[in-house]
Amino acid sequence: MSTNTLKVGSTLEWGKVDLKRVPHMPVAAPGPKSKALHARCTKHFKGLSGQVKLFPVAFESGQGCVLKDVDGNEYIDFSSGIYVTTLGHCHPKISEAIAREASKLMNAHDFTTEIKTRLMEKLATVLPGDLKGYQLYDSGTTAVEAGIRVLRAATGKHETVSCFYDYHGKTYGAVSLGHIRSQVYGAVRGPGSHMVPRPDVYRPMWTKPDGTIDTDQYLKFYDQYLDKATVGSVAGFVLEPIQGWGGSVMPPDDFFPKLRKFCDDRKILLMADEVLTSWGRTGKWLAMEHWGVVPDVVTIGKGFGNGFPVTCVAVREPYMESFESISASSSYGGNPMACAAALASTEVIEEEGLLPHAVKLGEIAMKRMLKMKENHKIIGDVRAKGCLMGIELVKDRTTKEPFDKAGTLVYQKAFRKGLAWIPAGHILRMSPPIVMDEATLLKGLDMIEDAIAETSKELGYA
Ligand SMILES: Cc1ncc(COP(=O)(O)O)c(C=O)c1O
Repeated sequence: MSTNTLKVGSTLEWGKVDLKRVPHMPVAAPGPKSKALHARCTKHFKGLSGQVKLFPVAFESGQGCVLKDVDGNEYIDFSSGIYVTTLGHCHPKISEAIAREASKLMNAHDFTTEIKTRLMEKLATVLPGDLKGYQLYDSGTTAVEAGIRVLRAATGKHETVSCFYDYHGKTYGAVSLGHIRSQVYGAVRGPGSHMVPRPDVYRPMWTKPDGTIDTDQYLKFYDQYLDKATVGSVAGFVLEPIQGWGGSVMPPDDFFPKLRKFCDDRKILLMADEVLTSWGRTGKWLAMEHWGVVPDVVTIGKGFGNGFPVTCVAVREPYMESFESISASSSYGGNPMACAAALASTEVIEEEGLLPHAVKLGEIAMKRMLKMKENHKIIGDVRAKGCLMGIELVKDRTTKEPFDKAGTLVYQKAFRKGLAWIPAGHILRMSPPIVMDEATLLKGLDMIEDAIAETSKELGYA
């Protein structure tokens, strides 16, 4: 295991990839050792994600922004696990912090510990506004479930409103807020779970005369919807600030400020599901900070523990007592290892100024992807906020018909070249660690462009 040898300020140095050495693909991937291990494992391990099915490689280790498979191939990491290892794999300070607690005290239910106290105090200094009440969980889904219960406890109402193509997890309450059909077969939506369209700048439902998206029309629709389609018991709007699984879909800049006012005027709470977008992923602690909006309830996950399963529900001061009435504690929530991982991640981000670095990487990526778009007609749209990025592939720029086949081919081709990343049908999603250096980011984007060029040619779109 790594030792805690990193000094404050040296994470960006540690995250640098030696591009003379990586990517390094001595064996055509997935190689024979990967195939053999995968066959043994999947004899019993069932229910793989599409990501693995399309590229069944077996990984051995990861350091910083580099992943190594069991055949000795080394990849640039453009996925961070699955939006999780925001600070790179096995960051020495985080690994050390987890190991220290693991050798001291692994679980004490929700009794107070020193490490939990320090985490609570740290959260109170970094989170915006009066987000001062916290509870800890072990997955994004369980945090979302608790968040929904807080909404109900705080308002005495029971309905929720979420958005088309949202994803919030796979248990009953969380799945009720999401785009079920493509995500969780066999799931049913709970009563009182409403969904409305969400402004998507690339695929607007309502536009102004100049063709730009008309956010006000969405809010007008929400107003009518609340009046006509709910039973008048809406506890909260629940939204991802930027849709992750939906394909890095960014809102227009006026959406969240207007939605905040809309909710305030109607005494409806606003819950931001920031499981994917928080803790530096977009260059802020919370993506909502990009629009100056403080939600009433927030879920924080993935990068929070940089790989250790720890998540958080944060609520504004007026709603803190709601935790008391939802029986908030759980078996693993706030265990010492989890608290140590979250505290160390937070300290590294804060002490080393990594948020502005993530913003800079997003700007560099955006510039590079816009250039890519000029070169390939199957690219319909590109977007980036910090290290949350997306490229939307279409068969035709006018009809914007999704090009799923191209998405699959680009994913596989780039992976074979040595880029570990995330597919989502026709939307290529990238989530590199925020500790990546500029040259490695550009190298990864070059690999994607090469894969797009080859795919365009293969499918007759060059
Ligand atoms: C926005 C959002 N909410 C909730 C979840 C569920 O998190 P988990 O997989 O940790 O349960 C995810 C997972 O991708 C997510 O992106």
